[in-house]
Amino acid sequence: MVSATLDTSQGVIDIKGVSKNFPHPDGSEVKALSQVELTVSGGEFVSLIGPSGCGKSTLLRLIAGLDKATTGTLELDGQTIDGPSAERGLAFQNPYLFPWLNIYNNVAFGLRARRVYKRLKSMVGQYLELVGLGKFGQVYPHHLSGGMAQRASLARALINEPRVLLLDEPLGALDAFTRMNMQDEILRIRSEKRITMIMVTHDVDEAIYLSDRVIIMTPGPGKVEKILAVPLTRPRARNTPDFLSLRSRILEILNFAGRLDEPAYQI
Ligand SMILES: Nc1ncnc2c1ncn2[C@@H]1O[C@H](COP(=O)(O)OP(=O)(O)OP(=O)(O)O)[C@@H](O)[C@H]1O
Ligand SMILES: [Mg+2]
Repeated sequence: MVSATLDTSQGVIDIKGVSKNFPHPDGSEVKALSQVELTVSGGEFVSLIGPSGCGKSTLLRLIAGLDKATTGTLELDGQTIDGPSAERGLAFQNPYLFPWLNIYNNVAFGLRARRVYKRLKSMVGQYLELVGLGKFGQVYPHHLSGGMAQRASLARALINEPRVLLLDEPLGALDAFTRMNMQDEILRIRSEKRITMIMVTHDVDEAIYLSDRVIIMTPGPGKVEKILAVPLTRPRARNTPDFLSLRSRILEILNFAGRLDEPAYQI
């Protein structure tokens, strides 16, 4: 549940009638997204889940301003999204860190790019602490584990103090235990920073564990099939009857219900 003290006036995403077509090599068009309608409240955590090719990354790229919608509009706090901005931070499955910069300088990069020099040192220190890398500023990316690299990548996105954090399968490359730890880390960071988070995942349990709402998407054309609220109190346990029934519901909507016996089904 979103806490009552949350500032919900900032970080509101409004998506209206959004479609995105890509040209196919055979001359036809790929309907990556069709008529997507979605409003995300300030401070809300939503997951986008669905089979490969249903347009999850396309939708995230449109919100990031990395690509333009064929039809429809996307807004952040009432302002049209028409390009990338520090207000909308991004983190991907493969942490994009500069290998020739240590972690301190990787995290400082966004501030320097925006010519924010005042408080740079204290801010980098603060964000490294936030993601649990306080002692690793001098280390280079190739010496980090996958989980640590993902933490550094989160610090790098968060230091710009975005109103929205966009995450495309951020934990997809991690082993199951590191992944569960990182899910808790994301929840902790979120409770400290109180920003809107939109995360793409293939993991049904991860979506339920983290989200206020799960946006279920289907392909051909990519569209929002169903939006489910997750009415579970936090902290959440992954094995309660309510959790498991929500999981069955999502898999049913995606026509994977025959595979419910698998422990943590990945779509
Ligand atoms: N730049 C592009 N040019 C052409 N087609 C594209 C482009 N980007 C995406 N597509 C197509 O749009 C559809 C949606 O792709 P998208 O990457 O958004 O899916 P996804 O849900 O993120 O899939 P996955 O789970 O595999 O990451 C796919 O059919 C894909 O081939
Ligand atoms: Mg994708």
